[in-house]
Parts: sequence; C-alpha cells; structure tokens
Amino acid sequence: METNKIINADCLEFMATLPDKCIDLIIADPPYNIKKAEWDDIPDYINWLGKRFLECQRILKDNPCQKPMNILQRLIKTSSNPNDIILDPFTGSGSALVAAERLGRYWIGVELSKEYCAIAKQRIFNEGNGRLFDPYEMENK
Ligand SMILES: C[S@@+](CC[C@H](N)C(=O)[O-])C[C@H]1O[C@@H](n2cnc3c(N)ncnc32)[C@H](O)[C@@H]1O
Repeated sequence: METNKIINADCLEFMATLPDKCIDLIIADPPYNIKKAEWDDIPDYINWLGKRFLECQRILKDNPCQKPMNILQRLIKTSSNPNDIILDPFTGSGSALVAAERLGRYWIGVELSKEYCAIAKQRIFNEGNGRLFDPYEMENK
C-alpha cells in the first residue's frame, strides 16, 4: 500500500480500494453539516456519515479512535507507534498529516477539494524532513 500521499477523492471510494484491517489509526474530522461551507451541506447526513464510518471500521486494525497541532500529536503518540500507518479521510488543510509526519508515522490523506489538497501538500512540503513530495509531484497531482 502506498503511503505519504494526499489523494484528491471521495474518501468512501478510496477506502473501498483498501484491504480489511490495514490501518493502525484513523483520525477523522468529517463535515459537520452546519451548512457554512460548500462541502458542509449534505442531504441525508447520518446515512452519508454512516457509510464512511463503516468503511473506517472495516480497514482499521483494532484501535478505533476519533479526533478530539498539540492535541493531534498527543493523540497520535498515545494511540500509535512509530512507523504505523495513519489515515485521515477528511484531510482538509492537513493538520493530522503534519502531526503524523513529525512523529515518524506513515500517513495517507484523502480530501475532496483540490484547493485543500494543495494547502495540505504545501504544509507537508514545508515540513521538509525526508519522505516528502517533490515539487514535480506537487504540481502534477
Ligand atoms: C472539517 S474539515 C477537516 C479539517 C481538517 N481537520 C484540517 O486540519 O484542516 C472537513 C474536510 O472534508 C472534506 N470532505 C468533505 N467530504 C469529503 C469526502 N467525501 N471525502 C473526502 N473529503 C471530504 C472537505 O472538503 C473538508 O476539507
């Protein structure tokens, strides 16, 4: 499985490509459906969220955990080990990925919006230590 990638897709479609029990920790900050942003107006919200959480449950090894740069790092430190794979299905600007990168975890981010993908990629690029995007990849993905 490829890690340290931000994928511009619906996380439901991406997670469906993953095998059972392949992810150590999921940090999810999904839309709240309070209709203050374009991505935050979801008809039949409970059903929409339920489908995505069921996929999370399927691909997670055995430590289900949800989100409460500091708190994320504490959460990642206490709930996973170095070199574990962490998935953020609603990446947004990429805070969880940055925290994972700083703590030596592998990570995968999925984000529907191209603009947020670009912001998250730039933040990861700025971290600048090792397994990061090269400028070619940033421009072409
Ligand atoms: C509450 S924000 C996440 C903020 C993020 N924790 C951060 O650090 O910026 C939710 C994000 O989910 C994205 N999103 C909405 N529906 C999605 C879907 N089906 N698949 C992937 N991302 C989605 C939105 O574009 C938005 O950026």
